[in-house]
Amino acid sequence: MKKPNVFMTRRVAVEIISMLEEVAEVDVWEEESAVPRDVLVEKAKKADALFTMLTEKVDEEVLAHANQLRIVANMAVGYDNIDVAAAKKKGVIVTNTPDVLTEATADLVFALLLATGRRLMEANRFLHNGEWSTWNPYLMAGQRCHGATLGIIGMGRIGEAVAKRAKGFDMPILYHNRRRRTEVEEALDARYADLDELLQQADYVVVLTPLTAETRGLIGERELSLMKETAVFINASRGGTVDEQALYRALVEKRIWAAGLDVFQKEPVPMDHPLLTLPNVVALPHIGSATYETRNRMARLAAENIVAVLTGKEPLTPV
Ligand code: DGY
Repeated sequence: MKKPNVFMTRRVAVEIISMLEEVAEVDVWEEESAVPRDVLVEKAKKADALFTMLTEKVDEEVLAHANQLRIVANMAVGYDNIDVAAAKKKGVIVTNTPDVLTEATADLVFALLLATGRRLMEANRFLHNGEWSTWNPYLMAGQRCHGATLGIIGMGRIGEAVAKRAKGFDMPILYHNRRRRTEVEEALDARYADLDELLQQADYVVVLTPLTAETRGLIGERELSLMKETAVFINASRGGTVDEQALYRALVEKRIWAAGLDVFQKEPVPMDHPLLTLPNVVALPHIGSATYETRNRMARLAAENIVAVLTGKEPLTPV
């Protein structure tokens, strides 16, 4: 019997590809760059399963002629790159990779928070540029992390894992979420706040919401103007949740203190992006979940979803 076809938009560990090869013919995109649109459309036409990254937009155009497609397994917890409604209409299952990346992403969020508050990148550049001539009382002075108020927007699994880390820093925790999480409130002494109150009170505002129609542009001019002048803004969700021009203005006009960004509206972020010119911006290339272990766990889970669906079983993590 002819094996089904899987198209993978990047190469991952060999044992994970072998797992797929047991049930399917596997076609791997060998470039480091994202699959060009026309190639994706063509590959999708012959695929029973797509193994995608957040760089591949799977929309109506891709799905239109993908008549044998059964599953799109996205190697990410976020799936704003996939038109889930259009997939559903076509009977295509969409899966993501929750849980396996929670702790690694929370570690990175906390690292970004500390790096931004304590100016680590700026201080590192300062030293390497040979500018360190003496010790000074306020040399590279930043904002405290210990005891500062943390405001988490989007209290999902990652938000909760960030809150756990914050407990070790004695940080009072405020959170804003679509629904109250009373179990988190009890376990971590987190307090629910409406968005405006959180923005007004937090010393660190951390955005972790998925990108949806409701959260697109969630943080704009008005929201930034509510924040403290000493506040640090962190975004590790998706670039689309924040108005980048408004953020740039708030930073330049010193209405907020600094920003740590792991995500951008356009990725890779263009090198002439105004936010990259600011010393008080710590910018990272979307590496929230980037540990070898976590990336392999994500790839394995995406592959397991494909194997399940191609062998007539239920997917493990449908969205
Ligand atoms: C995700 O999984 O959605 C992250 O942004 C990449 O790990």
